[in-house]
Amino acid sequence: MIGPVLGIETTCDETSAAVLDDAGTILGLVIHSQDVHRIYGGVVPELAARDHLRRIEPVVDAALREAGVERRRLRAIAVAAGPGLIGALLVGVSWTRASAFALGVPWIPVHHMEGHLFGPVLEDPEAVPPFVALLVSGGHTLLLWVPEWGRYFLLGQTRDDAAGEAFDKVGKLLGLPYPGGPAVQAAAVRGDPARYAFPRPMMRANVRSGGRVPLDFSFSGLKTAVARTVAGLEETGEVEDERPHLAASFQEAVVDVLTRKTLAAMAAVGCDRLLLGGGVSANGPLRMRFRERLGARGRLFTGSPRVSLDNGAMIARAGQFRAGQRPFGDLDDARASVPIPGMVPWTPETNH
Ligand code: KG4
Ligand code: ZN
Repeated sequence: MIGPVLGIETTCDETSAAVLDDAGTILGLVIHSQDVHRIYGGVVPELAARDHLRRIEPVVDAALREAGVERRRLRAIAVAAGPGLIGALLVGVSWTRASAFALGVPWIPVHHMEGHLFGPVLEDPEAVPPFVALLVSGGHTLLLWVPEWGRYFLLGQTRDDAAGEAFDKVGKLLGLPYPGGPAVQAAAVRGDPARYAFPRPMMRANVRSGGRVPLDFSFSGLKTAVARTVAGLEETGEVEDERPHLAASFQEAVVDVLTRKTLAAMAAVGCDRLLLGGGVSANGPLRMRFRERLGARGRLFTGSPRVSLDNGAMIARAGQFRAGQRPFGDLDDARASVPIPGMVPWTPETNH
């Protein structure tokens, strides 16, 4: 594609726009994180949609200004068309379709989770397949084998809560502000990760998983274990004192499960390159544990927070990859729930 591409992200509670040049370099990136949800301790879908509507024009304007690119020079507009909150998605998709029509350029629907795969490459040209990807966000926990862009083998996913959702729910249980992830990480700094032995769900090898550690995840039991412990401590008035230890022990359980399953997946596939994406990949202890465990043997690709958390640049970059690939299959419009295009289940026989 010749000329600058605009990327739009409105799947949840970030309104973001970015302008990329042909080489995939970020010329401008603006992220507006909605704070209307804070008082509710979670995202309120209608408020999210209304705030996107209010913000999308000024956010796009600011991104174009930062890039020094006039609107009429844009050659395409990519938008995260799903999965996400449908009202929020409809704002981004409607805005994009109308703007692309007015400019006479194509619009490109992008899968939000495919966008996360393209986060690290915005900062590191070597963050390209082949790699195993661990995508951990507020709505998804996905382990993928990616031999090349567009070919995605599903190794494992969550059976219930997403990793970020567990952080958010535990943050709420501990009386911390939304979003829970960064707040739990901060509270855990002064805590003892071994004080509470919270469960590590689905870690045991069994016959159904072919004698290996299962690669699917489950986080709702862990959240329930924390809730029970907190309820017990409330009776004795100890929650305040124990908060750092609860946060640290919970975080340790998540980090332990995510790293062990991901390393098992890398061994199963026979790949020593790992990409981390999604908001939870911003977690410091998680990155550190992966760095330790991979050692000098493997490569670890992570992005800075601005390309790891929801942002328009990753959408523009995935859009550059998808440009010209009409039809887009199930992702031809705003979709609350839709699989990543090209994703199939992985089996040990999968040819790589
Ligand atoms: O990818 P993302 O920005 O949005 C979704 O696609 O959901 O991820 C947001 C999630 C939230 O659940 C948030 O609590 C979590 O990422 N998160 C973190 C950290 N920063 C954000 N979780 C753990 N540690 C962090 N430092
Ligand atoms: Zn996301």
